[in-house]
Amino acid sequence: MSTQNAPRRHDYGPDLRVALGPLGLDNPVMPASGCFGPELGSLFDLNRLGAMVTKTIFFGARSGNPAHRLAETPGGMLNSVGIPSRGVDAFVEQILPEYRRWQTPTIVSLGGLSVEEYWDLADRLRGVPGIAALELNVSCPNLEAGGIEMGASPAQVEAVVRGVVDRSTVPVISKLTPNVTSIAEIARASEAGGATAITAVNTLVGMAVDLDTRAPVIGNMVGGLSGPAIKPIALRMVWEVRKAVSIPVIGCGGIARACDALEFLVVGATVVQVGTATFTRPDAMLGVIDGIADYVRDRGLESIRDLIGTLRTDRGAAETAPELTLAASTGHPAQPAPSRSVQR
Ligand SMILES: Cc1cc2nc3c(=O)[nH]c(=O)nc-3n(C[C@H](O)[C@H](O)[C@H](O)COP(=O)(O)O)c2cc1C
Repeated sequence: MSTQNAPRRHDYGPDLRVALGPLGLDNPVMPASGCFGPELGSLFDLNRLGAMVTKTIFFGARSGNPAHRLAETPGGMLNSVGIPSRGVDAFVEQILPEYRRWQTPTIVSLGGLSVEEYWDLADRLRGVPGIAALELNVSCPNLEAGGIEMGASPAQVEAVVRGVVDRSTVPVISKLTPNVTSIAEIARASEAGGATAITAVNTLVGMAVDLDTRAPVIGNMVGGLSGPAIKPIALRMVWEVRKAVSIPVIGCGGIARACDALEFLVVGATVVQVGTATFTRPDAMLGVIDGIADYVRDRGLESIRDLIGTLRTDRGAAETAPELTLAASTGHPAQPAPSRSVQR
């Protein structure tokens, strides 16, 4: 489906439609996996979202990590939930029907502790109604390869993606870990495997210590850092991925307000995901959508698509760019920070 023909469930004013390959979306905002589900549908109309993304599911049932699983850190949060899952059959029978109550496309996140587990999940989900796309969470340890994060190996990522693409009829999105030296290399492996799009990024591995007990705060010793603290890193990685591949990129990491999302769009993301921010403000995504619409309208753009990947890297152009006078709802400062030349 082209972006022009994508259905519009909600009138945002400006044209916010985007596409991930054949999957047309009403707007570019969706939750990050594991952070928001249909149980929050009583708070606002979930049809307003570009898509829904499920928590990562595994083939069989599995329990999560030991307590404590969450810790607040400056500007962020450490989590080591360990992704408990009831298994794919319970997902299809009990959880997926909850998503089908909305018209919003549902992206199902898959995890695996071996390359084959992803393939088995894809086989099981083939043809199941109500699945618009699959997102592969490759930040899982490969137990057959000594527990190394699958997403750190270009060869394993390519194998996971290719096998799932071969078994699926829906677009396949590869969600990358930031815990690598070259995310561009992993992105290229995902594209070579046939991914329709790439999500960047998952959480960064972090740690916190309780000085009273001198024990790690997190039961699993280390956890995934998310929230505003990781935004600059995520933004840089999205920019690197954008330059490395020609498939759409989904930006994720520290997005809480429209101005954050707009930065990701400018560096080349087609879609954004909001995770940690939804824990304190479950309706944060609505503010992001409205702020993006305000920006598109205020700047006189034809559509959101005119903004994607428009980062200006010629310094002269950036210094002579018109002053920022952005709508309050974008969360941007009303005035730009003074440039060096102004300070002098
Ligand atoms: C409590 C929690 C649970 C998460 N569960 C998943 C998950 O099941 N699958 C996944 O791919 N990412 C999971 N994530 C990572 C998020 O989807 C997202 O990539 C990350 O938090 C960065 O975005 P944020 O800074 O907006 O939260 C989880 C994050 C948090 C905080």
